[in-house]
Amino acid sequence: MNQTPNFTDHLIVTLDGPAGSGKSAVARQLAQRLEVDFLDTGAMYRGITALCLNHDIDPMTQPDKVLEIARKAELDFDWQVDPPALYAMGQNLTEQLRSSAVTLAVSGIAALGPIREILVEAQRKIGKAHPRLVTEGRDQGSVVFPEAEVKFYLVAKPQVRAKRRALQMRQAGQQADENLICKQIVERDHKDSTRKDGPLICPDDAVTIDTSEMTLNQVVEHLHQIVMQRLTNV
Ligand code: DC
Repeated sequence: MNQTPNFTDHLIVTLDGPAGSGKSAVARQLAQRLEVDFLDTGAMYRGITALCLNHDIDPMTQPDKVLEIARKAELDFDWQVDPPALYAMGQNLTEQLRSSAVTLAVSGIAALGPIREILVEAQRKIGKAHPRLVTEGRDQGSVVFPEAEVKFYLVAKPQVRAKRRALQMRQAGQQADENLICKQIVERDHKDSTRKDGPLICPDDAVTIDTSEMTLNQVVEHLHQIVMQRLTNV
């Protein structure tokens, strides 16, 4: 089952779903198994957010400034490292992307239509330069790559997602309150799925997988099998 598909020119696999559904880890490992590149589009929204915080821009009250900085950002991934490091304005922002300050502010920035336009265009450009790609986010199958060869939509129960997030935080030496995290996850889902531009939705032609009762390896194996089946049935 480990053989590489004979899709030498073009293979876009999209993984969408809410925070904590396991998308990032799954997408990264799936990309490794398929021997294709991996794009974390959440990192791009986080990158713009980090730039705003570094320039004392408040995303809620200064959307014009957010737009100005997003236009100047020149987001650029270093594909030589795994996962790819994110640079903006020549600065490596990777370490900052997962900070709590960025995590708290990012959904406000992801709700801004003009910012989404800039990042959707940047993602399509990346898709052209890296046509063999597993890409994960909220709108990859629905908006950015509607022609993707395979689309997945990952879900998991909020309590399970909160538990996973709490474990990650504790492993990073941080304190974690699972109930509070669960509440924040539900709020973030609501924000992400009710925004006007690029809301979190399941594309009609996506395969939905509930990862609540599955291990990371099981999910990766399952998705890999589906991709292989699709490619051999084309
Ligand atoms: O997947 P993540 O937690 O790194 O995403 C960070 C934020 O960016 C989250 O609020 C959802 C948003 N996002 C988005 O709106 N569209 C994407 N394609 C990726 C992320």
